[in-house]
Amino acid sequence: IRPKIRHRFHRYPHTSRYLPQCIIIGVRKGGTGALIHFLDIHPNIAIASTEVHFFDNNYKRGLNWYRKRMPYSFPNQITIEKTPAYFVKKHVPESVKKMNQSIKLLLIVREPVERTISDYTQIWGKLVRNSSYPTFEELAIDPATKMVNPSFAATERSLYDKHMANWLKYFNLSQIHIVDGDNFRRNPFQEIVEIEKFLHLEHKISEKDYYFDPDKKFYCIKGFINRCLPDSKGRQHVKVQDYVKTKLRKFFRPHNEMFFKMISRRFENW
Ligand code: A3P
Repeated sequence: IRPKIRHRFHRYPHTSRYLPQCIIIGVRKGGTGALIHFLDIHPNIAIASTEVHFFDNNYKRGLNWYRKRMPYSFPNQITIEKTPAYFVKKHVPESVKKMNQSIKLLLIVREPVERTISDYTQIWGKLVRNSSYPTFEELAIDPATKMVNPSFAATERSLYDKHMANWLKYFNLSQIHIVDGDNFRRNPFQEIVEIEKFLHLEHKISEKDYYFDPDKKFYCIKGFINRCLPDSKGRQHVKVQDYVKTKLRKFFRPHNEMFFKMISRRFENW
């Protein structure tokens, strides 16, 4: 296996920076971090080290700016970038298509109620911990009507049907590989093998490349230094009352059904 080029400014001979041929477009809190790092084990994959936010925040800087954010890679490697915000931004699919209409897209989804709570937990943990920021319940449920508030950002980001419909205006479903985030968490190798097929890569990543960390309760990467993802992944979720979860589950049901139709696939237990 060829050594990976990890340093942004280190360059092996015969390498260049290429625009990504594959993008992980979302979803936020779906497992995008673990996904890109697990794919990085593959010798024919080169990953961008950070979320580039080109199509949502930096589009005016131009494609050459974007290319320069990519790692140096060999011509036989696929460059992958991940920015989960792309999935929910209306104008992004059109711009991605303008760059490369045959690009391959990866979308990792997760049961929407848990994803919504994870999303809120991230906002709360990062920005507003210990402040008087509203509770999950206050944001998720409209106090006047006692119904789910569909414009709460964390809930809106879980409307997979709405966002997927926007991507399907510009791309064929065959270009978007859906990863089951709940299965990925339990059996990453099962999902990775499907991605290898989707990207037409030789099967190289296997169970042997991971170990299950009993403290983290996640699969982590084996190597010179055994490596788990940082504590920002797998945070303890804020406690949410059962009646709120039930309301959300009911609210998401028709959206999930629509999403299943769009992708010709079902996720049980959603
Ligand atoms: P929680 O923090 O809700 O547990 P993202 O990287 O898109 O922000 O997603 C974070 C989620 O990835 C975590 O959500 C965690 O459950 C999930 N995940 C799946 N496999 C993981 C792994 N091997 N290590 C850490 N997190 C993983």
